[in-house]
Amino acid sequence: MLEVRNLTKTFGGLVAVNRADFTVSSGEILAVIGPNGAGKTTIFNLITGILAPDKGEIKFQNRLLNRMKPYQIARLGISRTFQNLELFRTMTVAENVMVGAYTRDTTGFIGAMLRRPGTSLQDQERYAEAVEILRGVGLADYADEQADSLPFGLQRLLEIARALASRPKLVLLDEPAAGLNASESQALVGVLRSLQEQGLTFVLVEHDMTTVMDVADRIVVLNFGSVIASGAPAEIRSNAEVIRAYLGEDEP
Ligand SMILES: Nc1ncnc2c1ncn2[C@@H]1O[C@H](COP(=O)(O)OP(=O)(O)OP(=O)(O)O)[C@@H](O)[C@H]1O
Ligand SMILES: [Mg+2]
Repeated sequence: MLEVRNLTKTFGGLVAVNRADFTVSSGEILAVIGPNGAGKTTIFNLITGILAPDKGEIKFQNRLLNRMKPYQIARLGISRTFQNLELFRTMTVAENVMVGAYTRDTTGFIGAMLRRPGTSLQDQERYAEAVEILRGVGLADYADEQADSLPFGLQRLLEIARALASRPKLVLLDEPAAGLNASESQALVGVLRSLQEQGLTFVLVEHDMTTVMDVADRIVVLNFGSVIASGAPAEIRSNAEVIRAYLGEDEP
């Protein structure tokens, strides 16, 4: 589904992403892990067109994304969440999801923001669709609550629901378990698995190793912008170079 080849991005003298290579297969959950500053979020910014690569290729279903604009990439079926929650706090839960549908909306993002929902037939359909998407992450009962009234763990799920509103094929999740307690993380894993069963593909960046080991089909490890290992969770867990990157131990 996604092919990243020789991807490189520098900021001044800093090589944030260094000849990174990895692929994502349709229907899988791939985790990208690595220490702070390893280049994980930068890779998401490159895939979604927020940043342009210096070198390398990003192909989604065989189409080169390199020179596409973020909205064009979104329309091809890639959506994302952000490392810090980016919800519209005073809008309702359902409205947050409806705004997320803007990539398909002819009036666009600003139109979606300015219109008061609930008047036209199109709005009613969109509301029903938002509730359906919320059901998929277990939030249907909260549809009419104000977003910032939800507990933090549910706000994280709302962020995912909003990313699903554009009907993506591939969803990039930037630290979806950050700030979640153990039971909230378990709920997140259950939601991702059920969405996977419905045919979605995920790449998630995550520091919480329990969540990564529970949910990932495959793991890619980054260190200083380079891929240092990739494989099944069990292989990664016992990989010496990965352990060194995390624990900062010297070469033996
Ligand atoms: N827009 C930018 N301008 C300059 N430097 C940047 C920019 N974005 C990222 N960087 C730098 O690139 C490196 C990689 O950053 P990135 O945010 O991709 O790391 P990360 O793996 O997501 O880290 P974390 O786990 O802390 O979120 C860091 O050294 C960061 O300071
Ligand atoms: Mg990051």
